[in-house]
Amino acid sequence: MSSGFWAVVPAAGIGERMQSDRPKQYLQLEDKLVIEHTLQRLASHPEIKGIVIAVAQEDGWWPTVSIDVSCPLYVVNGGKQRSYSVLKALDKLSTLVTDDPWVLVHDAARPCIRQEDINRLLSMLSKHDVGGLLGIPVNDTVKRTGDDNVILETIERQNLWRASTPQMFRLVLLKSALETSMEQNITVTDEASAIEFAGFEPVMVEGHSDNIKITVSTDLALAQLFMQQQRGEC
Ligand code: CTP
Ligand code: MG
Repeated sequence: MSSGFWAVVPAAGIGERMQSDRPKQYLQLEDKLVIEHTLQRLASHPEIKGIVIAVAQEDGWWPTVSIDVSCPLYVVNGGKQRSYSVLKALDKLSTLVTDDPWVLVHDAARPCIRQEDINRLLSMLSKHDVGGLLGIPVNDTVKRTGDDNVILETIERQNLWRASTPQMFRLVLLKSALETSMEQNITVTDEASAIEFAGFEPVMVEGHSDNIKITVSTDLALAQLFMQQQRGEC
């Protein structure tokens, strides 16, 4: 087994909730596009050998941007759902390697990822049998309601996490887990769910809460603030 690390970046979404004139990964954030921050932060990590990015087939924005990254970058067409986009990128990666590298799947829409969080993931998991993901402990009291918004239960927040990315698994295991969940029509919204469905136990690694997924327009201002904080400006 190789000890190498690759990144896969799903970037084929349309950003419906952002309601802007372009997919959110192409919005400006400080001096760069969101996608540029994300790719450059991954590429500049010394352990990442290369990146496979999935962009939408009908994406007219990608061909107009030129992004300087310091590692090999391969582009594939994404799919209708995030998991299909990831699988297409993994298919491509399979043609590029002869071994079974670790793959860090990271959302294009998470531009604030810190090098220290990537380091943490690598150091906690690179000797692990399965792999895992970055997550943030839930701080709020969590309630479950019925469809009428009437509270059915309060869920103990101890040991509850919000899953984020990168999610790090071996190429062969992740690819087969995603294929199986698709064959069986199981909706998986992240890689860990597919791995869990396949009967394995991924590990949660605590990450910084500033690794937000840009989803609605107010998130851009928040991401800018986090970037300033990371530079020690506030
Ligand atoms: N993504 C993808 N392929 C899809 C859908 C999403 O590669 N078919 C990517 C997005 O580009 C994003 C990441 O998966 O980087 C997380 O998805 P999300 O935040 O839901 O992005 P969008 O689907 O673009 O946003 P929305 O759900 O608001 O439309
Ligand atoms: Mg989406």
